[in-house]
Amino acid sequence: MGQLFSTHSSSRGAKIAVVGAGAVGATIAYACQIHGVAHTIALYDTNAAKVRAQVLDLRHGSMFAPPMTIVGGTDIAVCADADVVVIAAGAKQKPGQSRMALAEANVALCRAVVPRLLRVAPDAILLPVTNPVDVVTQAILTLTGLPAHRVVGSGTVLDSSRLRMLISERAGVGAPSVRAYIAGEHGDSAVALWSGASIGSVPVTGWTTDGVPVFTPEVRAGIADSVTNAAYEVIKGKGATNYAVGLAVAYIIGAIVGDQRLILPVSTLVPDFHGISGVCMSLPRLVDRAGAGAPVAVPLADEELAQLRLSADRIRAACGELGL
Ligand code: 2OP
Repeated sequence: MGQLFSTHSSSRGAKIAVVGAGAVGATIAYACQIHGVAHTIALYDTNAAKVRAQVLDLRHGSMFAPPMTIVGGTDIAVCADADVVVIAAGAKQKPGQSRMALAEANVALCRAVVPRLLRVAPDAILLPVTNPVDVVTQAILTLTGLPAHRVVGSGTVLDSSRLRMLISERAGVGAPSVRAYIAGEHGDSAVALWSGASIGSVPVTGWTTDGVPVFTPEVRAGIADSVTNAAYEVIKGKGATNYAVGLAVAYIIGAIVGDQRLILPVSTLVPDFHGISGVCMSLPRLVDRAGAGAPVAVPLADEELAQLRLSADRIRAACGELGL
């Protein structure tokens, strides 16, 4: 099939390419369209009918969104010269299935597609979303030899949004006033960093209502469990998650192309963080036009560090099984 081209464009921003026109890829494109983070969004997929339909559907909303070019097709050249390439293709979790179960199939897919992507978009920042995202990020780094800052896994940005939502509901405070991060694996061993979490300038652990502490150890454990199980719950009900991840990835893209220097828990190789190194996982990092910066020195309890070490071990083991 030929490519689909829209007639109008603007000079704003960057070109974003999205590999995979399924629910996740298309929703990422949709969130980017609504937020106007690019002058061009390109969707690439091997399914001609699907990618054509997604591009048409997005373009049919042009009247209601900032002007931009939306293109798509089955020729990887559609991704040419993209500033950011999102990788959202691959097998998805079945109800009850762990993200790690997808590792072999999705790493194989990346081995096939990433070298071709880099031939057409040699300067792009790669933004893997495909699960298990930490293993996929590590596979891409190993395969390409790119510097770690250029491979920015979506990591636990979404999990952190889920955490903030739950904290904000419990405290009765708007989510943007909550600062809290999930770090480690985007998966079953994710770690809530309660030590540095705050509501306004009040530490979450010290937040009270009518003088009574709200976030007791039991409440915190329950919230952390809800975050870990959030995707399972959504997948059980509707077969996939797409809206929140779409917004999360558009937010990361905005930080990159807008050179915003936001602190986001994205996944890339950990250089040395309290003795954790040589593994891709999420830690709060500065995200700007160059991609993912070094981890920020965040407050960390011994227990949180111990959990992060276990999370790193789990990702390392999964990578080891695939020879990464
Ligand atoms: C999510 O957390 C499934 O990784 C996806 O929504």
